[in-house]
Amino acid sequence: MTKIVFLTLLALCLALEIFGLKLEQCPPGFRCRKRTTSLLMRSIISKIEEEEMDVEICEAGTYSPGGADECTPCEKGTYAAKPGAPACYFCPKGHMCPRADVVPEQCPLGTYNDLSRQTCCRVCQPGKFALLKGMFQCDDCPSGYRCRARAKLPCEDEAMETTTTTTTTTTTRTSESIITRTTTPTIDEETVTGVLNRHNWTDIGAVIDVTGSMAACYAQIDQWLALSHTNKLVQYFVFFNDGDNTPNKDKVIGSTGGIYAVHTNEGIDKVLTTLNTAKSNGGGGDGPENDIEAIIYTIANCSTCENIIHIADNQATPRDLILLGEVTKPIKVIVCKYIPGTLVNPKLLDIAYKTGGSLHTLDLDIETLGSLKVGDTIQVGTGTYLLDVTGFIRIV
Ligand SMILES: *[C@@H]1O[C@H](CO)[C@@H](O)[C@H](O)[C@H]1NC(C)=O
Ligand SMILES: *[C@@H]1O[C@H](CO)[C@@H](O)[C@H](O)[C@H]1NC(C)=O
Repeated sequence: MTKIVFLTLLALCLALEIFGLKLEQCPPGFRCRKRTTSLLMRSIISKIEEEEMDVEICEAGTYSPGGADECTPCEKGTYAAKPGAPACYFCPKGHMCPRADVVPEQCPLGTYNDLSRQTCCRVCQPGKFALLKGMFQCDDCPSGYRCRARAKLPCEDEAMETTTTTTTTTTTRTSESIITRTTTPTIDEETVTGVLNRHNWTDIGAVIDVTGSMAACYAQIDQWLALSHTNKLVQYFVFFNDGDNTPNKDKVIGSTGGIYAVHTNEGIDKVLTTLNTAKSNGGGGDGPENDIEAIIYTIANCSTCENIIHIADNQATPRDLILLGEVTKPIKVIVCKYIPGTLVNPKLLDIAYKTGGSLHTLDLDIETLGSLKVGDTIQVGTGTYLLDVTGFIRIV
């Protein structure tokens, strides 16, 4: 690249040497000045000396529209990252340009820029956060957390750092933001966040039972979104309510419905609206739900979802386990409404085992189910489970 610029420049200079150049002809991105020739040279080539120009490329951070004897420095908030610029470019939103001679920098974590042509990003206000780079705006702090910006950008004059005193239980730290939990979460609230924190799963499709008393299991949904530093953590949410209040007798296995899906990149608000719609359109009626139908829906409709997590109700058995054979990806079952030290619903072990997946609770990750053979037993919590030809049976 540099070579090409150099060669072009060389060719241009040679051309100018030969044909001479008037200032009006000075090309864009260059400056042209009368050559100061030595006295000796001047006497020899006095005739053409009048016309001869020194042509120089404009350095990065400066520009020339053409016909200029000087390059002009870029205005504040604009940039020209390469030499020879005919104009400077506006620094885009979500970026800052503290220097005019380099490419714009994405706003660091904890900062944003809602305007273009800025030399510096702004630090999020207290109670707001930006866990992604290049944000146009900050998001509201997730419920149950307190957010404060720790950023003090080198280019920032008016520091907006707040010094809120908090009773810190746990913190999620990024280079420039700090999110502090303010309330003690319940076990159910903690389970999914805990499991997500323990693993580096990306491109997740999350299948979530929203019936009955599952609310605590997804109460922290906005925080899962906030945890997704790369925006890749949960890509697709599927909420199911077992048939939108269809009478139990009319529910058909495999097409019960009441399944609502949303891509995370549609925004946190859309995710929460979809969740609320799913929740308010049906409560499940009887105990068993259409978990497997929702899992199949997720896999079919999100080809880029690498990791399928199933946030399951430990106190209800899916009605459609018969569909498990149609599940084509390993399912990571996260057991909600489970009290540590008590029993795990063996049907949830079946979902994990039969799909080649795993089972997770607040304090357990069981990832070796695949190595079990019929007749083997496994200890989960206080229970002992035997694997027979139909699936797991609790024996102790
Ligand atoms: C997750 O990633 C972090 C940082 O790359 C690494 O330190 C940690 O060991 C990983 N955890 C797992 C369970 O792979
Ligand atoms: C995929 O989503 C569409 C709605 O967008 C739905 O009608 C369809 O049943 C889903 N596919 C499966 C296999 O569930």
